[in-house]
Amino acid sequence: MEKYNDLKLLAENRLPQRSYYIPHSNKTSAMSGNKSLSSKYHELNGTWNFGYFPTPLDLPDDVSEFNFTETLPVPSCWECYGYGQIQYTNVNYPFQYDPPYTFSENPIGVYNRTFEVSSIEKLYLIFEGVSSYFELHINGKYVGMSRGSHLQAEFDITDFVVLGTNDLTVVVYTYNVGSYLEDQDFFRFHGIFRDVYLLERPFDHVNDIYVKTDVSGKYDVELTFNGASLPYTVELYSANDEKIDDLTAPHLWSAEDPYLYKLLITCNGEYIMRKIGFRSIAVSSEGALLINGIDVKLKGVNRHDSHPKYGYVVTHEDMVLDIELMKQHNVNCVRTSHYPNHPDFIELCDEYGLYVVDECDIETHGAENAFGRRTNAAVDTLSNNPEWCDAFLERMVRTVERDKNAPSVIFWSLGNEAQFGNNHVVMAEWTKKRDATRLIHYERAAYYDPDYTEEGVTIHPCLDMISRMYTDIPEVERKGREPNDNRPYFLCEYAHAMGLGPGELVDYWEAIYKYPRLIGGCVWEWCDHAVIKELPDGKIGYLYGGDNGEFPHDNNFCCDGLVFPDRTPSTGLLELKKVIEPLKIKAIDIEKGLFEFDNRYDFLDLSDFDFKYSVVVDKDTVETKSFTVSLKPHTKATVKIDYTMPSSAKEYARIDIEMTLAKDMLWANKGHLIAWDSFALPVSIAPETANVAKNIEIENTKRYYIATLDNLAYTVDKASGMISSIKNGNDELLVRPCDITIWRAMTDNDSKRTKDAWKYEHVHKVYFKPHSFNVNGNNISFEGVLGAHSRVPLFDAIITYTFDKNGMNVNIHAERDDTFIILSEPTLKKDIAYIPRFAVRIPLKREFEDLEYFGRGDRECYVDYKEHSKVGIWNSTVTAEYEPYLMPQECGNHIDTKRVSLKSPCTKLNVVSNKAFEFSALHYSIEQLDDAKHAFELVEENSTELLVCYKNRGAGSHSCGPELLEKYEITDRVIDFEFSIKF
Ligand code: GAL
Ligand code: MG
Repeated sequence: MEKYNDLKLLAENRLPQRSYYIPHSNKTSAMSGNKSLSSKYHELNGTWNFGYFPTPLDLPDDVSEFNFTETLPVPSCWECYGYGQIQYTNVNYPFQYDPPYTFSENPIGVYNRTFEVSSIEKLYLIFEGVSSYFELHINGKYVGMSRGSHLQAEFDITDFVVLGTNDLTVVVYTYNVGSYLEDQDFFRFHGIFRDVYLLERPFDHVNDIYVKTDVSGKYDVELTFNGASLPYTVELYSANDEKIDDLTAPHLWSAEDPYLYKLLITCNGEYIMRKIGFRSIAVSSEGALLINGIDVKLKGVNRHDSHPKYGYVVTHEDMVLDIELMKQHNVNCVRTSHYPNHPDFIELCDEYGLYVVDECDIETHGAENAFGRRTNAAVDTLSNNPEWCDAFLERMVRTVERDKNAPSVIFWSLGNEAQFGNNHVVMAEWTKKRDATRLIHYERAAYYDPDYTEEGVTIHPCLDMISRMYTDIPEVERKGREPNDNRPYFLCEYAHAMGLGPGELVDYWEAIYKYPRLIGGCVWEWCDHAVIKELPDGKIGYLYGGDNGEFPHDNNFCCDGLVFPDRTPSTGLLELKKVIEPLKIKAIDIEKGLFEFDNRYDFLDLSDFDFKYSVVVDKDTVETKSFTVSLKPHTKATVKIDYTMPSSAKEYARIDIEMTLAKDMLWANKGHLIAWDSFALPVSIAPETANVAKNIEIENTKRYYIATLDNLAYTVDKASGMISSIKNGNDELLVRPCDITIWRAMTDNDSKRTKDAWKYEHVHKVYFKPHSFNVNGNNISFEGVLGAHSRVPLFDAIITYTFDKNGMNVNIHAERDDTFIILSEPTLKKDIAYIPRFAVRIPLKREFEDLEYFGRGDRECYVDYKEHSKVGIWNSTVTAEYEPYLMPQECGNHIDTKRVSLKSPCTKLNVVSNKAFEFSALHYSIEQLDDAKHAFELVEENSTELLVCYKNRGAGSHSCGPELLEKYEITDRVIDFEFSIKF
């Protein structure tokens, strides 16, 4: 059998995994922590010779002698440079399920370069990540091989090198037997995608380092050596390099205060500095997660290494950017889904302060699909198959051994979606024995343990917590209330952030804060995965699954992040930031200025932050002052703010309270906003007087009613019951007649099932059909129904247009007719019981570009997705209202609106109502957003599509998560909707 298919041959001549460190030759460079200053560290990244072969049979007999004519950067993924097939697949394997064989067309990249050696004692060659399997040759001799794409591989190459120039050849295979363990939901990229470097070391040296710390200040350093035991010294330093002889009350490490000490090991001329932290991890009797004895909630995200241009290759700067953004948005935890990240990433988490769920590079999700349908048979082929046990275990060993000294790592994860079998038990048991200080997480145990039942969760005792994904909120609550099992309950994935959303974060967090056992969770996921497409106009578009002709693929299921591929935060990230903010403020008595402050930090006192309040009247800040608050973590107190109540406002007044950083941090500067809230002030409203028409006339022609108010003319079409023209003098403001719609461009989170049900029942084509019309004084009314072709109507409706001196009032009274639901196919009933929205569409001329509104902004918001927004008078442009989701969909909604004003160069149109409504204004029609598959396909319409909306359904997270909570559906059986169009 070929080596790459040989399950029994996990590696050849790869050294046993040791902890990650870089040795230095002097103390100063070691203490700097900067590996590039080490004279022992020689990075081999750069341009390598490259040859690409379609199958192993095409390989030349002596690869080292091959005449290379091409080059490729290292690190890189070769698909990003035009080799191989770009492929995004989620669950389905990209080859037949026939372990241990993968794909006979197994393309190979041969990499080659030279390197110089000036002195040889011991020389090691290290690969931080190669997808998926490689064989190493030096100076024409075979050195060894390794598999495990996201795991480190180290080789002792001392005996293979010569002084002077050496030849290095690495033969990388697309697939190998280990690919069965790497069926993660991502683009399948290949090549040497992380750093490659040499370490020059003395003949005898320290090998493994295992530092065990204790919150009392004790630390144990266990060393192994590559030969006989050697003399060494260990010194402890503070973060500022002050030597510490005796540590009694250490400055503890936490994500909020990530204090790191420096441990310096000196041995045989080598200086190895390892940053260490003192912290404890425990579980309370109620199942709470205790970090340093304090009940901590994990406000996490799932993060893949992903770059729209470079695939799996992420630079130090890319990793720092992700971490800074996480910290800036109040995230305190990251799950390295679904494999160990670059070792620098873990060190950055130590440094910046993030709790890490360090996940093993194992996922066999496709086994569940391989047998034609999801079945437990999958368990037996891999995760419960003793022949695969070593392959499972060695990946765990490599994960734990590499990262075991990182204070940030609090949980070891056995991997993701690899069913649950005895191989997991072996992994967990080994891990517990090696490191009893961290907790073990693995989600799939809940599905496959024969003892598991939905009610009494009795997952295998080798796991320290119950982990689930995409649990609905009522179930999360139930788990919080009924700890049959007092292990923590962790949502390793929740709130699927695909496209618009995720909604309902606020509901998850309300539950999580109620019950100690609910320790939090990680949003799926941090970043949209996509590949860049350069557009003819020089701009950039994003492609996803299927765009490169691959089979199988999973469309845009990879575009489900809180940040866009270029790391621009989507509104979802702002929502998360607000929901998990560490300070919650409640108004106790707004007139007296009494507020309750709830410090949700675990370790920080609020005296570490700056506070400011501002009183805003309409658009102006009339008063602003800083103040201080001193409040211990996990405590609440009443804070009095001495502001002056404004006497009156034209539309409204509010008080804003903000908490900002008082000093520069690694991840944001002084002044960075951490938490805020905003409260309406009970002031008297003295509105400005509107333009008033002197004359109102209604002309009644055979087809139209035409109401003129001085130089304004509103035309209502008797055939449709809709406004067909609004004229200001000779200026026609509409590009086409208005209509009523109950549709929105489907979002990913509207979910395929609901979308299909609605479309099947023509919900997207519903329109108003008048049965009768009538004019009475200044009232024009229509009685009719709302329905679609070929279906019974959904609503009986009466529309009344009333004219007064201020303009036109529109009143819609609609009553749901249940015949439609009763007659529909049984499987569709549930979905069609609700509608996506209810709105009047006013298609204005494109030149209505300036937008001002009194409502919730400044970003899009929905009924379950509004925490990030506040009521204000916002100025924007219609162009800026669009959110560029990779697959176009509904966006740009604003709830709690009382006024929308749109300005063209000659006209200002206002839509107002006493009752809050919702609206959006975009240069794209619902239909275009609904049909387009990629953001770059959109073409701005020659219109401003103003949607004056009674209600718009919540955002939810149903693309992978639970159904939208009923409270966020439009459940109304009777709709009364009223607004005015004024100038
Ligand atoms: C989970 C899985 C993730 C991702 C997600 C859907 O089941 O663990 O890797 O596939 O669903 O986006
Ligand atoms: Mg999966």
